[in-house]
Amino acid sequence: MRTPPVFAPPHSLPQLPGAALRVLTPADFPAWVRLRDEVLAGLAHPDMYVREADEAAFFAQHSLPRGHAIGVFLGAELVAYAMLGAPEPGEAGHLGAVAGLAPDAQARVAHLASCMVRAGWRGRQLQALLLKLRCALAQAYGRPLCLAMVSLHNAASCHNLLAHGMWIAWTGEIDGLQRHVLQIDLLGHARWDLGGSRLIAAGDFAQLRAAVADGYCGIADAVDGPRRMLRYARRLPDAAAPGHAAVPR
Ligand SMILES: CC(C)(COP(=O)(O)OP(=O)(O)OC[C@H]1O[C@@H](n2cnc3c(N)ncnc32)[C@H](O)[C@@H]1OP(=O)(O)O)[C@@H](O)C(=O)NCCC(=O)NCCS
Repeated sequence: MRTPPVFAPPHSLPQLPGAALRVLTPADFPAWVRLRDEVLAGLAHPDMYVREADEAAFFAQHSLPRGHAIGVFLGAELVAYAMLGAPEPGEAGHLGAVAGLAPDAQARVAHLASCMVRAGWRGRQLQALLLKLRCALAQAYGRPLCLAMVSLHNAASCHNLLAHGMWIAWTGEIDGLQRHVLQIDLLGHARWDLGGSRLIAAGDFAQLRAAVADGYCGIADAVDGPRRMLRYARRLPDAAAPGHAAVPR
């Protein structure tokens, strides 16, 4: 069997000395299942992550050759993983369709599909690292529109996605569950009209939906005492990338 590629030598993960990153293969499926069983059993709220109807199909859909799954290993032990999907336009579950992207844009979408860190190894920015790696892969595959779905209850994941520069582009119900779809265009440089921004309670589904319907996107989170808030702003035209200056009108 071909040796799976190792992304980085152990010493290059300062937040977890001794850890190594590598692509998951079908041989890793049992370890992936064990990690998910453990993490799902320990969720603070059951809505934070709902198990797939067919876990084996989900693994296959988000690992080579159809997608990419990256594992963080300490020795032989899988301590975290993250997945990237490359959905085809028209495919069931395409988040670009959910978020209302045009068909040509849907062909450039990658799904930042699932990320879990075992409880004992949280707080080391592993989701942030795995986000960066998956975005780099998505761009290399010509899919710079990265989309992720997150539960309204999942404060840590939402925080990490927003901190990565993603924004809440859509909020609504998917399969009966209240979900955000976050987006980033890796070839763009999103800018926001902060002057007219709104602060909305993170659990206020009706207000969050209304903000998106009014053309606002969720761009940051903040904690106000016991309440978690989300800041919404309207998007301005992207700044011109260096070397591709927009013609002033
Ligand atoms: C979500 C998850 C992957 C994050 O793991 P992680 O990489 O260890 O995340 P960290 O603990 O390093 O980062 C947590 C960040 O969220 C913040 N955070 C944690 N709880 C938070 C809360 N209730 N409200 C706001 N922010 C919160 C932390 O302050 C930290 O932010 P900082 O880096 O700016 O300080 C992990 O918690 C997990 O596996 N959860 C269960 C599975 C899951 O929900 N996966 C995501 C959906 S696919």
